[in-house]
Amino acid sequence: MDDTKRGIRVALIGVGNCASALVQGCTYYSGRGIERPGLMTTSLAGYLPEHLVFATAFDIDVRKVGRDLSEAIYCAPNCTARFVPSLDPLGCEVRAGYEVDSVGAFPKDTPEERRFVPIAPVYGDPAEARRAVIRELERVRAEIVVNYLPVGSDQNARFYAECALEAGCGFVNAMPALMARDMGEQFRRAGLPYLGDDVKSQVGATIVHRALVSLFRDRGLPIRRTYQLNVGGNTDFLNMQDEARLESKRRSKTGAVLSQLDASSLDADGVYIGPSDYISWLDDRKVCFLRIEAEEFGGVPMDIELRLCVEDSPNSAGIVLDAIRAARLARDRGLAGPIEDVCAYLFKSPPEQFDEAVARERFRSFAAG
Ligand SMILES: NC(=O)c1ccc[n+]([C@@H]2O[C@H](COP(=O)([O-])OP(=O)(O)OC[C@H]3O[C@@H](n4cnc5c(N)ncnc54)[C@H](O)[C@@H]3O)[C@@H](O)[C@H]2O)c1
Repeated sequence: MDDTKRGIRVALIGVGNCASALVQGCTYYSGRGIERPGLMTTSLAGYLPEHLVFATAFDIDVRKVGRDLSEAIYCAPNCTARFVPSLDPLGCEVRAGYEVDSVGAFPKDTPEERRFVPIAPVYGDPAEARRAVIRELERVRAEIVVNYLPVGSDQNARFYAECALEAGCGFVNAMPALMARDMGEQFRRAGLPYLGDDVKSQVGATIVHRALVSLFRDRGLPIRRTYQLNVGGNTDFLNMQDEARLESKRRSKTGAVLSQLDASSLDADGVYIGPSDYISWLDDRKVCFLRIEAEEFGGVPMDIELRLCVEDSPNSAGIVLDAIRAARLARDRGLAGPIEDVCAYLFKSPPEQFDEAVARERFRSFAAG
């Protein structure tokens, strides 16, 4: 590999559980040769996990701001698996982020080690915050900004996306602020790639549900009703206890499944998909209960039930690792705006949905150039 390909300079927005899994994973998979079990893509056009350089990070939690990223990823309320026991310092200090709508009202009795503890505001007004974030992205020569903000942070997601635009960075939107169409077009005009929205985990509830409904469709069985209930114990689930914050997540998850089936067979209220409850002792484990009721030959009813249990954050990290490398590859090739061949495979809410097999083929063709 030539030198121009080394080092993808990444900026993280939010150093929560997903960021922790991603940062740990880059060390875990570093220098391991071609056999790297657990990765969907080992080499993406020559880019390997060890080519990610965490250039800067932003957060608003008192326990994370001011710390090196190598320590911040293990600070409460993060609770994901520590599959790399410790990391050498990364030389990447977590900077103070800017908060507009990213911190919800957690239940009052939630202990501090389970919730965000925000720093006192450090910026006088939005313009000052914007200048500071852009200056930092430029200072560290960030190439790709990864947005890991909590669900419901729609204004904050736009704030950071606009900072990325102005600093000349590509953008990976891992969360469900659904802005791939309009914000994506702004990135196109600026000649920068935009990948989103809302990561589709490697083998998580969404992809399993999509695969099952596709199976029913392919085998000619009309689906009448389905649900997907998810419970977990991380801050993502705690945050989504606030019904007002989770509308975008529900829309994103439901759309990802509905796009794969013939909706005309469904009962009027035949679909329920969403994050459903917070159970603190599950920590970063997520349990999904899925049911499909359909009609078989002769109109005879049948159903299927499935339970899936995953560690939530590592399940998304491999996909974000692919997205970051794809964003850099898009930059190398002068591609801009939403990169549809990538978005449809890696995200729940791409600008355009495709059948999973088509999305996979398009992603592989993109990677192969
Ligand atoms: N499998 C998955 O885990 C998965 C899959 C798809 C999407 N997502 C989405 O990715 C996002 C991140 O998930 P997570 O589990 O890491 O969440 P998290 O709650 O663990 O982390 C969020 C982080 O953002 C920080 N933060 C809050 N406001 C901020 C601000 N204004 N500026 C900078 N930092 C701020 C918090 O302090 C925290 O460290 C969520 O929206 C989640 O829904 C996760």
